[in-house]
Amino acid sequence: FVCFLNSCNSSDGDRKKIFIGFSQSINNDIWRKSMDHAMEVEASLHPEINLTIYNANRKAKKQIKDIDNMIEQGVDVIIISPFESDSIVPVIEKANIKGIPVIIVDRKVNTSNYTAYLGADNIEVGRIAGKHIVSLSNGHANVIQIYGDLTSSPGLERSLGFKQIVKQYPGIKVFDVDSDDFGHPKTNFVKVLDSIPNIDYVYSFNDLIAYNGWKIAKDKGLDKKIKFIGVDGLNGPFGGIQLVKDRVLEATVLYPTGGSEAIKLALKIVNKEIVPKNNMLNTILIDSLNADIMSNQFDKIAVQQSDIEQQQS
Ligand code: AHR
Repeated sequence: FVCFLNSCNSSDGDRKKIFIGFSQSINNDIWRKSMDHAMEVEASLHPEINLTIYNANRKAKKQIKDIDNMIEQGVDVIIISPFESDSIVPVIEKANIKGIPVIIVDRKVNTSNYTAYLGADNIEVGRIAGKHIVSLSNGHANVIQIYGDLTSSPGLERSLGFKQIVKQYPGIKVFDVDSDDFGHPKTNFVKVLDSIPNIDYVYSFNDLIAYNGWKIAKDKGLDKKIKFIGVDGLNGPFGGIQLVKDRVLEATVLYPTGGSEAIKLALKIVNKEIVPKNNMLNTILIDSLNADIMSNQFDKIAVQQSDIEQQQS
């Protein structure tokens, strides 16, 4: 299958190939790797799909270049998991003018000139974390909140939803700490741990920050005293569900990657079906009560997919 300047063509006789380009913003993060993988698996179930994944490695300029490249090639659909919400707007609008459908996944962008958005409700994610802490503590706790990137919509909204809940409980004190874009807590985490003697909970904007924070707390002998709550809830080694089962995390809030749904949405768009502009994915609290059930569900889906792949090969 050839995809050159301004045209993607199938060399597969009558069968029309569908060219989907995906621009991933960050590559060294398991949630995003899992998104890529889910897209590849879903695409492999549809032999007509030709999926190309571009990685911007946290570089806004590279992401814009990648998308420009897809526009030049004339792909059928562009899927974008944005890094920045502003700098990317002109290239999204360029695709729109050229009539190429664009699906935005996860982080929101500051334009409405795209075809569809796909993601879970991050305000609800924050509320779920807040309600869990309120119910475990009866509304009395010292909590460290470790932000993700506050310039991104997940960062902003996870904090907003959390605040909406905990502000109703004067007995809950929140100490804010930064992270390096959804990775590690910054050094003020250690300062807060050292200066506030009775921290009860840490709410981190993803499971990776929670795990890295937990390691720091463990070194200080505080891991049994402080309960960690993360976000993402991936299945598999080092995923949030496993961390809950291993009692590293008290809980995580499911934030689905949307990888397979993005491909399904792209197919519908190419087949001229009308799709909603906003496509919401579900979120749920995962703690020791449902961690096994949740991982069994994910495993079942994986087995079903591999059955279909085997039947097709
Ligand atoms: O933008 C959303 C966040 O990005 C996910 O929760 C996180 O794990 C990823 O890095």
